[in-house]
Amino acid sequence: MSTPLKVAVTGAAGQIGYSLLFRIASGALGGDREVELRLLEVTPALKALEGVVMELDDCAFPHLAGVEIGDDPKEVFDGVELALLVGARPRSAGMERKDLLEANGAIFTAQGRALNDAAADNVRIQVTGNPANTNALITAANAPDIPRDRFSALTRLDHNRAIAQLSRKTGVPAHDITRMTIWGNHSATQYPDLFHTLVDGRPATELVDREWIESDFIPTVAKRGTAIIEARGLSSAASAASATIDAARSWLFGTPADDWQSMAVVSDGSYGVPEGLVSSFPVTTGGGSWSIVQDLEIDDFSRSRIDASVAELQEEADAVRSLGLV
Ligand code: NAD
Ligand code: LMR
Repeated sequence: MSTPLKVAVTGAAGQIGYSLLFRIASGALGGDREVELRLLEVTPALKALEGVVMELDDCAFPHLAGVEIGDDPKEVFDGVELALLVGARPRSAGMERKDLLEANGAIFTAQGRALNDAAADNVRIQVTGNPANTNALITAANAPDIPRDRFSALTRLDHNRAIAQLSRKTGVPAHDITRMTIWGNHSATQYPDLFHTLVDGRPATELVDREWIESDFIPTVAKRGTAIIEARGLSSAASAASATIDAARSWLFGTPADDWQSMAVVSDGSYGVPEGLVSSFPVTTGGGSWSIVQDLEIDDFSRSRIDASVAELQEEADAVRSLGLV
């Protein structure tokens, strides 16, 4: 009998946590190992988290081997093989971008150090908390003993949103749409690219016109997070949890042979993205590793969109460097 997969979730008493924990506990990550949840929260939220744990107990999930909670990252991350970093400081009224980067910098430097000291040797770290790409950069910079290819930031939600829009437009079910790509930052500058996408095996560009791609598809996907905040009064939570699971499952257990996923990873310089930036690429995964899909043709339109999002990532990286966080 194998030991349970130890999965850490931070911000576990938050909105995303409330959806994510129950899906993980019911086996949605895949594989045949049971899971042990290690849940991190800030001290004032521990009481609420105790309530969530009571509810987890009450589900009597056969797949759940145990739950531990705490406010000390080093204790919670002890021996974890998968760390889902969801908790982050949201922007509050009057907060400048620099203040947000600084507040999150404090969280992700501490968590990077704790992962470095306490996580299992095979740990994989996936950041959902915003600004996700730059938070992943800070975490990696503060965990020098963990290989760079173990850090990622979530752009799978954007990827799923892009598939959903294309499915709606073409009337083809989402599961018949493959090779979607999100490039760059998980922000409004992201570039959802369907120029390599297949819809039921046919190039997407044979089914949709340029006007729809530029005026509808790209802005709808890139601004979807804001549209949900406007409608719900809160940011996306169930869909963010679902994408967090999709991305982690692909990373641990692989993408289908004829498909890829979008994942923000530490750039090796592919497609002209400066080395070291955490940027979204098309990646294939297998055996717990990923590799960037190479040799895709990038036309001038795509090039300018990728460059704009990467420029924003570079600005964020420069800002956190000047704050001494990386
Ligand atoms: P939330 O405010 O409901 O929950 C966040 C939780 O994090 C809170 O319970 C808070 O106490 C906790 N937290 C704060 N600092 C912490 C720390 N140092 N250690 C542990 N926990 C800490 O927010 P939410 O709706 O669950 O969203 C979480 C994050 O995910 C936000 O940053 C949000 O912007 C981001 N998000 C990302 C995506 C994506 O696709 N990448 C999508 C949706 C939301
Ligand atoms: C989303 O894409 O739904 C979120 O990242 C939006 C946000 O700002 O929390």
